[in-house]
Formats: sequence, structure tokens, C-alpha cells
Amino acid sequence: MIAAFKQRFGPAPEVRVFRAPGRVNLIGEHTDYNLGFVLPVALELATYIAAAPSGDGKLRIYSEDRAEGREFDAASLGSLERSGHWTDYPVGVAQELVRAGIAVGGTNLLIRSTVPEGSGLSSSAALEVSSALALLGGRPIEKLELAKLCQRAERNFVGMPCGIMDQYISVFGRAHSAVEIDCRSLGHRLVTLPESVTFVAVNSMVKHALSGSAYHDRVRECAAAVTELQKAFPTVQSLRDATVEQLDAVSAQLDPVVAKRARHVITEDARVNGFVSASAAGDVAGMGRLMVESHRSLQHDYEVSCAELDLLVDAALQIEGVHGSRMTGGGFGGCTVTLVERSAAPAFATAIVQEYSRAMGITPRVYVCDPADGAGEVKKLETIPSAE
Ligand code: GLA
Repeated sequence: MIAAFKQRFGPAPEVRVFRAPGRVNLIGEHTDYNLGFVLPVALELATYIAAAPSGDGKLRIYSEDRAEGREFDAASLGSLERSGHWTDYPVGVAQELVRAGIAVGGTNLLIRSTVPEGSGLSSSAALEVSSALALLGGRPIEKLELAKLCQRAERNFVGMPCGIMDQYISVFGRAHSAVEIDCRSLGHRLVTLPESVTFVAVNSMVKHALSGSAYHDRVRECAAAVTELQKAFPTVQSLRDATVEQLDAVSAQLDPVVAKRARHVITEDARVNGFVSASAAGDVAGMGRLMVESHRSLQHDYEVSCAELDLLVDAALQIEGVHGSRMTGGGFGGCTVTLVERSAAPAFATAIVQEYSRAMGITPRVYVCDPADGAGEVKKLETIPSAE
């Protein structure tokens, strides 16, 4: 990757490479911006950025995968506005660094990513976090500050009112562990998963246009539920604080759609906690049941699934060795995640590819989700995957 960098930008004395992973969320969907619980794992799939000072005041951002890039004056980063181009992610991060009082000088960035875009495996957060590290160029930053800064970039510059999950797990991920994040306290604990099972992500290869606007709608609907709940229960500051009983008590005052959205979030938070307990007890059947309940709740109450995801889940549940399956990420396409006996995983992959291809005429991609470490500088350059 260093050679590719020098080929593009010319000689540079010190090129450093930074990596930030994508993620798969095991359970706890659309709970993060309601200050509840999520349980993601960081993946081997990651975005790599080779970086060095440009020496001419320009920030150049080039993506090998897209074979395309853009150039900016580093001095004017603070006043740039969203363009709709993919460079909004690194530029938004640069702008947040400047706002935080961290100077961003002329820099050349070469980007290579193995996180499939639009797959719900969080390619955006991987790009944001790797960009932040590359622009910092080795200057220290507190981990939580890094995650929050990248979330601000996505909210303020890109215009997506996301929660903290994706950036947080990209920073705090840990090999061999899932990470249970408390999205209010922003603390986490590592969760060891039973040895006998593994998680497999299956990419539906579709991304419906609705995903962006529907996300905004869901955020608004959750806020509307809190406003109504608060009138009766003043201690409810977010859906994290509410119970199903409280929701039932105000249901006559609630728009039925808003009530369904709130029901999903409240029950999903409980499922995260149940899943972590089941995992600790080695109760893989219980974990699987909660994943299926999560999917049904996202399908019927939160209404962020789609025909392709439902098909993948229903087909997975028919395959030998599968304990549970659900959509993962924002929804309207992207991936499902399936809990399967480790020994049955290869046969599962073959069977799900066959079934989805037959039913939809699309060949899905399958990724084994071994938990990997969070973001950092890459010291062993031989571990960087080669360009496609
Ligand atoms: C997207 C957002 C996250 C989270 C998920 C849904 O990935 O970026 O913050 O809200 O959707 O759980």
C-alpha cells in the first residue's frame, strides 16, 4: 500500500497506515439514538488509509476502490459544505477536527477498503474513523473523543442523524469479543460468546432508496413518543427509560405508528440484556430466539426490513445448525446476521447462497464474523489486504 501511495502522490519521507473496521450488530437495532443498549462486534473487514503530509497545503483524498478522488485547500476546510460526494465523510471529519482545535494541514490520503458499501456493515464509520486517525497522523486522541468526533462529522456534515454505535465499535472493538455499549453512559463491557457457535453475515446485495429518509422519520417518531410519555411519566428522558407498561398506559394518546416504533425500541433494549445473559449461560437456543424476536419486531413494529431481508431470515431458519437470524444495521437492505453452530457454518453458507439466488436471482455475499480489534495504526504492513 505504501508503494501504491508513492506511485500516486510521489515520494514521501514517512507514510503511515491506519485501519478502522466495519461491524456487524448482533442485537440492539435502532436503540442507540434512544440511548439504550447495542451489541456489535468489529470485523476483519476494514478501511485502510495510507497518509503523509502533502507539503503544499492541499488535502488530497483518493480511493483505490473507486479509482477516484478530490483535492481541497486545507486552510479552507472549516468553511466547506456537504457536496453529496463520498469525500463528505473524510472532509466532515477534517472539519470536526478543526472545530475541536486540532490543526489539519495539507495531507495526502490513499484509501483502500474491504468493507462492502451499502451493506449495513458500517463502511461509513470505518471511513470516518480511519480518516480521523490518518489526519491526526499519530497525534494522540482519547478513544471516546475519537468516536464522538466521527459521529459529529456524520450528523453535522453528512446530515445523517445517526447514533454512536458504528463509530464506537470501530474504535473500541476487540478480537474474540462482542461489545455491549450503553449508549447513554457511553461505557461498555466485553461479552465473550459461546465457543460452539459463530455469526455469519449474508449480504442481500440490495439497498433501497428509503433508508435515508426512513431513518430520519424513525428518529422523529421516537422523539414524539418520548414527548407523550413524559407528560405522564416525567422521569422518561428517552425511550431507554420507558417500560412497556408505561407505553400501554399512554397508548390512547399516541399515534398508533408512533406507539409501534416505541414498542420496538423498549422491547429491543430488553432483548439485548436477555441475549447477553443467555450468552453467559451458554444458552445458544435462547440467543437465537431473541434474534428472531428482534427481527420480527424490526419487520412489523419498526418497519425497517424488506422482502429480501425477510427472505434471508426465513430461509436461514430452515437450515441445519441455525439458532437464529435477523437483519442487522439500519435496514431496507444490507445484511442479515445468523447464529449458527460453528461446524455447520460452511454448509449454511452454501445453502443460503443457493436459496437466495434461486428465489431472488441475486447471488448474496457471505462473511464470517470473527470479532476483530478496533481502529489503530497498522504496524505490520504485511497484514494489509492487497488492492482488488
Ligand atoms: C445505522 C446507524 C446506527 C444505528 C443503526 C441501527 O447503522 O448509523 O447509529 O442507529 O443504523 O441500529
